[in-house]
Amino acid sequence: MEGGWPHQQGWLLCLILSLLLQGSPAFTQSSNTFTINCSGFDVHGLNHIAFQAVFDRKAFRPVININVPTKVNISFTLSAILEVNAQIQLLTSFIWLELFWYNPFISWNPEECGGITELTVAAENLWLPDIFIVEFMDIDQTPSNLVAYVNSKGHIKYKKPMRVTSICNLDIFYFPFDQQNCTLTFSSFLYTVNDMLLGIDKEVWEITDTSRHLVQSQGEWKLLSINKASPKLAVGSSFYDQLMFYVAIQRRPRLYVINLLVPSGFLIAIDALSFFLPIESGNRAPFKMILLLGYTVFLLMMNDLLPASGTPLISVYFALCLSLMVLSLLEAVFLTYLLNLIATEPPAMPPWLQSLLLRYLGGCYNKKSQKENGSPEPNPIHLPGLKEQGVMAGPAKAWLNGESHSTWAELEHQQKVDIWVKFSLVLDTLLFWIYLIFMTSSLITVIVLWVN
Ligand SMILES: *[C@@H]1O[C@H](CO)[C@@H](O)[C@H](O)[C@H]1NC(C)=O
Ligand SMILES: *[C@@H]1O[C@H](CO)[C@@H](O)[C@H](O)[C@H]1NC(C)=O
Ligand SMILES: *[C@@H]1O[C@H](CO)[C@@H](O)[C@H](O)[C@H]1NC(C)=O
Repeated sequence: MEGGWPHQQGWLLCLILSLLLQGSPAFTQSSNTFTINCSGFDVHGLNHIAFQAVFDRKAFRPVININVPTKVNISFTLSAILEVNAQIQLLTSFIWLELFWYNPFISWNPEECGGITELTVAAENLWLPDIFIVEFMDIDQTPSNLVAYVNSKGHIKYKKPMRVTSICNLDIFYFPFDQQNCTLTFSSFLYTVNDMLLGIDKEVWEITDTSRHLVQSQGEWKLLSINKASPKLAVGSSFYDQLMFYVAIQRRPRLYVINLLVPSGFLIAIDALSFFLPIESGNRAPFKMILLLGYTVFLLMMNDLLPASGTPLISVYFALCLSLMVLSLLEAVFLTYLLNLIATEPPAMPPWLQSLLLRYLGGCYNKKSQKENGSPEPNPIHLPGLKEQGVMAGPAKAWLNGESHSTWAELEHQQKVDIWVKFSLVLDTLLFWIYLIFMTSSLITVIVLWVN
């Protein structure tokens, strides 16, 4: 008996202790003290005194055990893409940020309150998670006086509009057919993983769908997709939880195609077609000059549409167009000069040029010579209108007219004239081919870029 007492006492102590623990302070408090007395809400309206205990706690993270991290669920809707500035590498967009978290100090019994399950509370009375966007490059212009939804179980939903100016690595090489891939990283400003964990409230496709529906305005940018990056912790002296999203947007190129590519293409096409203007009529150079002037004016006017920084492909294209036009103008001037010169006194062609020309012309030159049965005279002049317009000097004309008393000197003169005319012809054809190749390749490039 005597020996049994301590054992029984110990057993009793255990029982009492376990009973006490069962009704531990946290448990009792969560069912009593933290329950908001909402009787009369349905009759006299909401009573702020009932909530005062909650409002007074807003300075601290709402947890009962401070070692337990608060879980904040995030969702957002991209509602507009306002501006993409390649010069300072900023994307300005508008998002509605939604935050969900749990406040254990808020709960009430809806049955006592006439079935009220959800209330709006001015957000300034509540503790709010300090979620920010890492790429944010502006001051936060979130309007004050926002409200939060609080339900009877303590779940809080807070939604705020944000004009987000975020830094983004913009690549404008393919302008105006470019796509951009920007990141939005949500993180807590101060709370480490020990205090705050982030989660995503909706599926990513839901976010994408809602956003795409909203960004359907006919702005310059179209939302392609939103993807969630694999979660990783931010570096720093301690770890911060992060949620990262990739936002892929695409430019609508129609404006630029109509205002930039089409006029430039037309001008280049006209310049190419002007090769059909006979060079000896002397109209070609002035015509090309006017086109060049027009092109320069066009470039000046359209400069505003081009991105202010970087070297997009389209700038290279314009530079190439301009150089081609200048080149063809120079060629026209040179040919006019040359034809005038050979009409009076043809200079001797440099031997290297002559051999190059002969090698280049090779096949057709030989064939034609054979056709004309080995006669010493070279081919008749091909430039249209040259004969009729009498650009050629007397001896050549005489020879062409078949006058038999042509001397050796006249023949030599004629040969000189002919090789120069041939040279100009080759130059003309060469440049024309360069034009054609350039036009087709740029057309194909545009189509390929547009379709993709
Ligand atoms: C709730 O408040 C009412 C008065 O507003 C009071 O009569 C009632 O006893 C309170 N209920 C509890 C459980 O404290
Ligand atoms: C956050 O989302 C997860 C899963 O979607 C859910 O289980 C959890 O209850 C949510 N937490 C809050 C505070 O809404
Ligand atoms: C955006 O870039 C990231 C890497 O920086 C990549 O993983 C992701 O697939 C890209 N998204 C799109 C749509 O290109």
